[in-house]
Amino acid sequence: MKLLGIETSCDETAAAVVQEGREILSNLIASQVDIHARYGGIVPEVASRQHLITAIPIIEQAMAQAQTRWSDLDGIAVTVGPGLAGSLLVGVNIAKAIALAQGLPILGINHLEGHIYSNWLEGKPPDFPCICLIVSGGHSDLLLMRGHGDYLPLGRTRDDAAGEAFDKVARILGLGYPGGPAIEQAALGGNSALHRLPRAWLRGSDDFSFSGLKTAVLRLVEEKRNLAPADVAASFQEAVVDVLVTKTVNATKRLGARQILLGGGVAANHLLRQTMAERSPLPVLTPSPILCTDNAAMIACCGYFRLQASQTSAWDLDVAPNLRLA
Ligand code: KG4
Ligand code: ZN
Repeated sequence: MKLLGIETSCDETAAAVVQEGREILSNLIASQVDIHARYGGIVPEVASRQHLITAIPIIEQAMAQAQTRWSDLDGIAVTVGPGLAGSLLVGVNIAKAIALAQGLPILGINHLEGHIYSNWLEGKPPDFPCICLIVSGGHSDLLLMRGHGDYLPLGRTRDDAAGEAFDKVARILGLGYPGGPAIEQAALGGNSALHRLPRAWLRGSDDFSFSGLKTAVLRLVEEKRNLAPADVAASFQEAVVDVLVTKTVNATKRLGARQILLGGGVAANHLLRQTMAERSPLPVLTPSPILCTDNAAMIACCGYFRLQASQTSAWDLDVAPNLRLA
């Protein structure tokens, strides 16, 4: 079974062909980072126009690279949300047009669920029940996954998402956009013990909060002269990782899960990956960094399990910019 995946929820235009929900035949990503970098963040109007220009060529390239004809496909999976409405609309309408013309089923996919399914694209498939930590530019969600499509939400961020905090702190430190990779790079030469930054534990809850940490960095930068950005970046990164790992491991122990699955752009962070693996008593599954950040293979993979369960979408499928998971 072969599925074409299409992802245009934010600033990456992505298309992929995945076989049997596991084998990536092609996985192409056209990033708009350079275009948005000059504004210091994503400009929604620019993003949707860019998707319009790029989506069809990227889809054609993904099909060619996978040596797949339209008649070889069994379905089309497309991200319907959460994300930028104008960007999502481009992907959903192109997916509908192709599916209708080719007589294929269409599967509307939750982007966050896609991030979880990156864990099915490599190595041994995960074991249920598992704890999923999805940390991206817009979300920090902790969930118990009991089976395919079966989620119990445990906690989410009460303010900034983890990736958003990385992006904002990078801006404060003048490190550029996107902030996550810039902070990770800067932190390599920094001393994380130099500045003790606050951690919001929110005891008794699986929720997260990162805006206090961001404000603490802002205050530090305003109050102290001659700060080395590397030291602040290292201290900030350590504070975020400490909270994410401690809360995830605690939930895992409490709920008797068998594994921890990571997903989302922040899961590309090496300190997070390493610290989670060190502190977790259970196996931790972490997709390769290229499968943590936005891609369409994860959307096609999630679509495969949907199709297996005969859960296809109707033709009135619409975008859902504020879609939640469970
Ligand atoms: O999942 P993603 O590619 O897009 C969204 O769904 O939002 O995540 C993007 C977020 C950005 O905030 C970016 O700064 C962050 O992931 N990110 C990282 C790293 N790579 C990307 N954060 C920390 N360390 C990284 N290496
Ligand atoms: Zn994402």
